[in-house]
Amino acid sequence: ESGKLWGGRFVGAVDPIMEKFNSSIAYDRHLWEVDVQGSKAYSRGLEKAGLLTKAEMDQILRGLDKVAEEWAQGTFKLNPNDEDIHTANERRLKELIGETAGKLHTGRSRNDQVVTDLRLWMRQNCSKLSALLWELIRTMVDRAEAERDVLFPGYTHLQRAQPIRWSHWILSHAVALTRDSERLLEVQKRVNVLPLGSGAIAGNPLGVDRELLRAELNFGAITLNSMDATSERDFVAEFLFWASLCMTHLSRMAEDLILYGTKEFSFVQLSDAYSTGSSLMPQKKNPDSLELIRSKAGRVFGRCAGLLMTLKGLPSTYNKDLQEDKEAVFEVSDTMSAVLQVATGVISTLQIHRDNMARALSPDMLATDLAYYLVRKGMPFRQAHEASGKAVFMAETKGVALNQLSLKDLQTISPLFSGDVSRVWDYGHSVEQYAALGGTARSSVDWQIGQVRALLRAQ
Ligand code: ARG
Repeated sequence: ESGKLWGGRFVGAVDPIMEKFNSSIAYDRHLWEVDVQGSKAYSRGLEKAGLLTKAEMDQILRGLDKVAEEWAQGTFKLNPNDEDIHTANERRLKELIGETAGKLHTGRSRNDQVVTDLRLWMRQNCSKLSALLWELIRTMVDRAEAERDVLFPGYTHLQRAQPIRWSHWILSHAVALTRDSERLLEVQKRVNVLPLGSGAIAGNPLGVDRELLRAELNFGAITLNSMDATSERDFVAEFLFWASLCMTHLSRMAEDLILYGTKEFSFVQLSDAYSTGSSLMPQKKNPDSLELIRSKAGRVFGRCAGLLMTLKGLPSTYNKDLQEDKEAVFEVSDTMSAVLQVATGVISTLQIHRDNMARALSPDMLATDLAYYLVRKGMPFRQAHEASGKAVFMAETKGVALNQLSLKDLQTISPLFSGDVSRVWDYGHSVEQYAALGGTARSSVDWQIGQVRALLRAQ
């Protein structure tokens, strides 16, 4: 007796190093609850199919509840032969209820069992991550609403571009996250499909009603093909890609904030709660929270690429390679949960330095508006762009700011300049011109806030 679930055809013992290599219990034990849930549903399916008597089913259900109770209370004792969570739970069930336990796996394979467990676990986890994501979005929108009147420089190529509202910057990141949330919902929809009843490869020959299993486990649909169902991990790949893209967004926001937090910018200051110091330089306050958010992106991308490489080139159906999917899912789920909570903390406690933000605005950032001024006077945009460029050049050669050029100077460039050009130099007036929906004018920022709030309410 090898003590293995699959020991019948074996006479030789497994090498201890192989035993360890093969074992997934160290991490798939996280699936204990969904494994019991799946087994309970399956035993109901077996009873309906006439493969278990009502008494046997009740015995199994009670035994499984006891197994779950042991896990929940931390009294479940693993033994060295427990290769994975499925074998561990079945082994324990047999100890608790005896030979009837041996009927539970009738027509089932760990191939359809493990992927059912993983889908159940991920379905739950996607809901948790979705709630954390919305919490972050809500925090950002609250901030955007409260600080709508703060202006600061907008950058392209990290060069001063145009004045924008600080809220417009916040919302630019929040809006990206709303897409992540929408995408997560899509992923969750494809996670929510039941493979149980597919067996190892060929399906179930014993009349198990998969529609009943679906209803028991509250899945949205059942998988169409048993070979595909036991081997496809599209939903895992999609989840890892979802996380990768979300991390791209969070990493970009972190990078902006790290930059804005330098003494050179001094637009924002991170709360002590999300910073750390230097063991050598006493003055240092480092944005470690943001740096770690940025770095976790790399770890998540690695898991995504790693899974795709595992899948690529596999022959059809279940191969043990697929066991590697779980560590990726668990690690990325933990990472996303931590990152979303830290990001929420950072944003809600961030201090902004309005004066520095205002001081950083410079008249050259209004050169575009100067061109639009001429456009409003009837000049074609290409000519206006050229004229404003000439004004920039003139200011540079004279060594003065763009708004220090006299009306006379400007009129040498175009006779369309008149006294009302002084309005161009007002930053508040500048941003208010960008009132088309999606722009940085107050009305448009309010509209954006309203749109995101509507999504929040729909959650
Ligand atoms: N621990 C395995 C996994 O995680 C369970 C499925 C094993 N099936 C098999 N036929 N060896 O994928």
